[in-house]
Amino acid sequence: MTRPVLISPSILSADFARLGEEVRAIDAAGADWIHVDVMDGHFVPNITIGPMVVKALRPHTQKVMDVHLMVTPVDPMLDAFAEAGSDIITVHQEAGPHLHRTVQRIRALGKKAGVSLNPSTPAKMLDYIYDDIDLVLVMSVNPGFGGQSFIESQLRKIEAIRNTIEKRGLDIDVEVDGGVDANTAPRVIAAGANVLVAGTATFRGGPDHYASNIARLRGQ
Ligand code: DX5
Ligand code: ZN
Repeated sequence: MTRPVLISPSILSADFARLGEEVRAIDAAGADWIHVDVMDGHFVPNITIGPMVVKALRPHTQKVMDVHLMVTPVDPMLDAFAEAGSDIITVHQEAGPHLHRTVQRIRALGKKAGVSLNPSTPAKMLDYIYDDIDLVLVMSVNPGFGGQSFIESQLRKIEAIRNTIEKRGLDIDVEVDGGVDANTAPRVIAAGANVLVAGTATFRGGPDHYASNIARLRGQ
């Protein structure tokens, strides 16, 4: 199944003092989804935003709100992020011992469920969860900060995950997050990813550049 490539700009690289405006600007510039990085200062060494900010941003765009929770424990936060208006809620495999329960809860809340793997986590950790998820998020940097370099070994992981999805005939997006720019984008797409997260590469140069930055990620 060939899937269109979708761009999900990470608002981690936006101007946090003008977040609503920034979301409207990337929406108008051609973003497919809006990627929201939630960090708790515990699972990852940084703190960003919570459900109140997702709720505040919701009226600014009709696009898919793609919420990446780098949070542990994550189960107590799911309802709040669902109510805030998330469309996809992605949790980390490493964030807790009951991943199956967590993704079931996300789906019970009427949301799409994603699972993310840190760079050192093998693809096989997904073997018994594929039937219960809508998206796999491969971290191509260690989560916590924008602007890091792409970790090459993750290309093989993307390939392995895409192959398994195809072999099993499943309808699952493969998203890549970290160090995605005009150079790495064609390589992650060739490896089998169909959703590209990009913070630095989207917001570089300010609002006048968002449309051309997003187009470049699509190879245009
Ligand atoms: C990292 C975040 C990423 C990050 C990507 O923890 O999950 O979404 O913002 O940033 P860039 O595109 O700058 O590598
Ligand atoms: Zn992210």
